[in-house]
Amino acid sequence: MENPKLPLLPNTIMFDRESMEKLIDILVHQILADIENDTQSVAIIGILRGGVPLAQRIAEKIKEKTSVNIPVGAVSTTIFRDDLRYPKGSLNLQGTTLIPFSIDGKIVILVDDVLSAGRTIRAAIDELLQYGRPSKISLACLIDRGGREIPVQPNYCAWKPTVEAIPKNLWISVRFRETDGVDEVVIEEQKEVTNIEQSLLLKNKGLENKKDTSSYQELTEQLYLPLNEWNRKDLLGLQYLSKGEIYLILNMAPLFLRVFAFRETPKKLYLLQGRVVIHWFHEPSTRTYVSFDLAAKRLGADTLSLSSSMSSEKKGETLQDTLSNIEAMRTDITIVRHKCSGVPKLLAEKHRSHIINAGDGQHEHPTQGLLDLYTMLQHIRKIRRDPYADLKDVNVTIIGDILHSRVARSNIWGLLNLGAKVTLCGPGTLLPKEFEQLGVITTTSLRDALSNADIIYALRIQLERQTRGLFPSTREYIKLYRVDRDSIRYAPKHAVVMHPGPINRDIELATEIADSNRSLILQQVTHGVAIRMAVMHILANSEKHI
Ligand code: CP
Repeated sequence: MENPKLPLLPNTIMFDRESMEKLIDILVHQILADIENDTQSVAIIGILRGGVPLAQRIAEKIKEKTSVNIPVGAVSTTIFRDDLRYPKGSLNLQGTTLIPFSIDGKIVILVDDVLSAGRTIRAAIDELLQYGRPSKISLACLIDRGGREIPVQPNYCAWKPTVEAIPKNLWISVRFRETDGVDEVVIEEQKEVTNIEQSLLLKNKGLENKKDTSSYQELTEQLYLPLNEWNRKDLLGLQYLSKGEIYLILNMAPLFLRVFAFRETPKKLYLLQGRVVIHWFHEPSTRTYVSFDLAAKRLGADTLSLSSSMSSEKKGETLQDTLSNIEAMRTDITIVRHKCSGVPKLLAEKHRSHIINAGDGQHEHPTQGLLDLYTMLQHIRKIRRDPYADLKDVNVTIIGDILHSRVARSNIWGLLNLGAKVTLCGPGTLLPKEFEQLGVITTTSLRDALSNADIIYALRIQLERQTRGLFPSTREYIKLYRVDRDSIRYAPKHAVVMHPGPINRDIELATEIADSNRSLILQQVTHGVAIRMAVMHILANSEKHI
C-alpha cells in the first residue's frame, strides 16, 4: 500500500472504502498463509470497538475462500484497562465481552483496528484468559502506527507507516460501515474524553426495540451501551426514570457482573477511586447495605456507615444539618434508607452529594426495582433464547402486602415502563384499588393471579408496618396467599419465583419453593451488586448534572 501524503492533517482520509478493503484482504492473506492447515481450530476475537467489525469481515472473507466457518467473538478491555485508575475524564468504558464458544485449546486471533502503545492488547489478553486457555494467541491489526510502550508485536499487520512517526496529537480513526455507516481511515485530532457520554463507545440506539437475532452483527450491537441523556444528580425512584435511563443501567450491569465471574478473585475497579460513599441507614438492612458497600468497594471508593442510633440525630440535630456536616468533609455519594417516604428527595434538593434512595417508607426502593427488572430480563432472555427479548407483555404477578411495599411500587413503575403486564394480588385490605389507575390488574384471588404468571413475585409480609391489623391472622394469610407446592400448581410450569428478602419462611413463601430450582432469589441478590455498581458509576461519573 502507498503511504498517505504528508503532511498528515486532521480530517485527511488516509484510506477510502476501496483501499480499506484491500488492507483487509492483505490481512486475510497473511492469516490464511499461516493457519492454512489449522482453520478448524481457529477462533477470531475482535477487541471492542473497531476490532469487532474487522474480525467479522476477516471471518467472512476466510469463509468465502475456504468455506470454513470460523467462530467470532468480541472482547472488552474495560475491566483491565490501566486508565481506570485515573480520575474521571479518561474512562474508556465499553460494552461486555461476548465469546459464545469455548476458547480452550483454540488458536485465538485477536483483532484490533489500530495498534499503538500496546496497552489495549495487554488488557484484552488479560480479559480473554478469564474465558479459557487457548493453545496460542496471535495478534492481527489493520494498522500499526507505532509508539509502543510495552513489548507487543503483531503477527499480522496490513499497513505500517514508513513515513515519519505520526504525531501523538493525531489519531488514526478506522470507521466501519457496520458501526459508523462508512468504510474509511481518517486522521483526527485526539479528542479529550471528558464525560461518560463521550467516553462510552456507544450507539445512539436503544436495545429495547431490537428483535432480530439472526446475525452476529445484530448480536454484537448489544456490546455498545445505548447513548442516553443522563442528567440526574440522584436516584430517588423508578417513577422518575425514562425507559432509556432504565436500560442504560440494566445494560451496564453485565459489565460489572463480569467482575465477580473471574476465575481467581473478583477484580476491583477504580471508577470511584478517591470518592467517599456514606451509608446512612435509619432502618435495618442486610442485602441493600452489604450490596451497596460491596459495590462501592469494588469500584474503589472509600465507604463508611452511619446509623441513626450512632449519629447526632439522637441529640436533636436535623437530617439536613447532619448531611450538611457530613458533606463538609467532602463526601460524594449518600445512600439513604429511612422509614419516612420522601426523605431522600428532601435531602437531594438541598445537598451536593449524590443521594441514592435505599428505601423510603412506603414510597420506593429503586435499586431493588432495578435488580428485579434485570433478573426478570435475564430470565426471559434465557428461556426465550433471545438476547434481545424485553419485558413487553411478560406477566408479572406481585403477591402480598402491596399497601406497605416500596418494593412493589418501584417494580410497578419499572415494569409498566418496560411494557410488562402487572397483576397485584393480596387481601383487599392490603391491596389499594387506586393502583388500577396506573394500569395494573388487581385481584384478591391467588388462583386467578397465578393462572398466566410468567414471574411470581412474593412480597414480605411487613408485620412491623401493620398498625391497624390489616389481615385477620397469619394462619389465614398462609391459607389464602402463600406461594407453596399447592398454590404454585395454578401457575404455568415455566413460572419462576422471586422475593426481595428477607423472607418470612413458610408465611408468604414456602421453603420448598424458596429453595427450589424455580427460585431466582439468590440471583436477585447477586445482580444487586452489579446494578448498584452501575448506578453509582453513572451518577458519580456523569458530569452533566453538576
Ligand atoms: N430487599 C431488601 O431491601 O433487603 P434489606 O432490607 O435486607 O436491605
